Amino acid sequence: MSEHAARTREAAAERDPRRLRDAAAELAREAGAIVRSGYGQIHAPERKGRIDLVTDFDRRSEKLLLQRIAERFPGDAVLAEESGTHSARGAKSGVRWVIDPLDGTTNFAHNYPFFAVSVGVEVDGELVAGAVFDPVREEMFAAARGAGATLGGAPIAVSPIERLEDALLVTGFPYDVREHPERVMPAFEAFLTRAQGVRRDGSAALNMCYVAAGRFDGFWEPTLSAWDTSAGTVIVREAGGRVTDYAGGGFRPGETSILATNGRVHDAMKRVLADSLGRSRR
Ligand code: IPD
Ligand code: CA
Ligand code: CA
Repeated sequence: MSEHAARTREAAAERDPRRLRDAAAELAREAGAIVRSGYGQIHAPERKGRIDLVTDFDRRSEKLLLQRIAERFPGDAVLAEESGTHSARGAKSGVRWVIDPLDGTTNFAHNYPFFAVSVGVEVDGELVAGAVFDPVREEMFAAARGAGATLGGAPIAVSPIERLEDALLVTGFPYDVREHPERVMPAFEAFLTRAQGVRRDGSAALNMCYVAAGRFDGFWEPTLSAWDTSAGTVIVREAGGRVTDYAGGGFRPGETSILATNGRVHDAMKRVLADSLGRSRR
């Protein structure tokens, strides 16, 4: 094999979704151990906004993730919640890591055991792999495009629930909820009175993985960032679920509202969202 052919093959292997998934899982597990070591302590979080917190452990987890990516994948770009965009050094690989070092910071700061590390991977702008690690339950959710979604290495699939009245749903509220409760309350109320149950438990990344694993049937939230949903999007889709914006259109992490479901309750949820959004504007 010529040197050129060998380099091309190596570059293709580096962009292979399964390899990227495995690397994402390794990174999430290592960062998860840092976060787990802080669970149960008394934290003195700083405020990024009125109710938006950040702790030392968000920063320590992010630092580790950035360091590992720079060591192992120096040609890759990164988008990280606490430090923003990091461009690739040297030859650009087309790979971008989208990381939330601690999803569920409010929970973590209050020692409520529901938070995770989320690592999504894009190749040439397309989401291809992701891993979300819950360090309290030691649950690793992962997926690679075309290879299915797994929990602890075993395949997972979305639930068979067909009707909204039988569905267990979950949502989250953006940090400007105090300023704009009218943006979220109509949908919340509408689902509360139509679904079997509605939960709100503070980690969008885990909420999506729970849809993938069939624990929840649908998830909606109006304004999340790319690091909250990138890994979860691949995981839900690979588990057989559907991810769109509220109107059923193409979902772009960080740019649109999100509706992630088992597919079967998707249209019913879309109708409720359209109706409640109409009411909030009236
Ligand atoms: C938050 C969580 C929460 C969601 C918020 C997110 P953070 O992420 O995912 O469930 O409702 O909109 O910002 O700040 O804990 O990483
Ligand atoms: Ca987050
Ligand atoms: Ca976070």
